Amino acid sequence: MANIEALEVVPIDADRCEAVWPLSVEAGWNQNVADWRFMLGAGRGFGCTGPDGKWQASSLVLPLGQKLAWISMVLVTKARRRSGLGTGLLKRCIDEVMSQPWFTLRRLDPYTLKPLLEEILAKVASAEGVCR
Ligand SMILES: CC(C)(COP(=O)(O)OP(=O)(O)OC[C@H]1O[C@@H](n2cnc3c(N)ncnc32)[C@H](O)[C@@H]1OP(=O)(O)O)[C@@H](O)C(=O)NCCC(=O)NCCS
Repeated sequence: MANIEALEVVPIDADRCEAVWPLSVEAGWNQNVADWRFMLGAGRGFGCTGPDGKWQASSLVLPLGQKLAWISMVLVTKARRRSGLGTGLLKRCIDEVMSQPWFTLRRLDPYTLKPLLEEILAKVASAEGVCR
């Protein structure tokens, strides 16, 4: 059964890399401690610890260049799933991205969007052709 006691979302510093690593191991992901150290150092991590101090959940905003960010490493330990932790961390990461000075929201009308989507699909199709 999921443990539903509320957990505080706190930053994950790069020096916590070893302690947070078991979350990706449990999920069967291939990141190692050095990967975590790099990502937490280059980006901003957010997560939750349990009463025993162990990391129960993680998330990460990793800048990709100047105007793009990757929300990644959203991990919740199995015993804590389906209690809203994953959603809470994703929201925290989205807030982080939206607080960046470069962030802009663009609302595209369908007439603008359609040619853009067609262009993206054409690029994906031609990239698949190259890969084959
Ligand atoms: C994906 C993950 C982060 C979700 O964490 P969580 O704390 O359980 O998420 P939430 O409790 O906020 O769930 C939100 C909603 O997502 C959906 N959801 C979550 N897990 C699901 C599952 N296994 N199957 C179907 N729907 C699921 C549900 O709609 C859920 O709402 P509900 O519980 O009210 O039905 C967690 O399952 C996990 O760590 N998985 C392994 C790693 C992973 O795949 N991470 C995502 C890519 S970075």
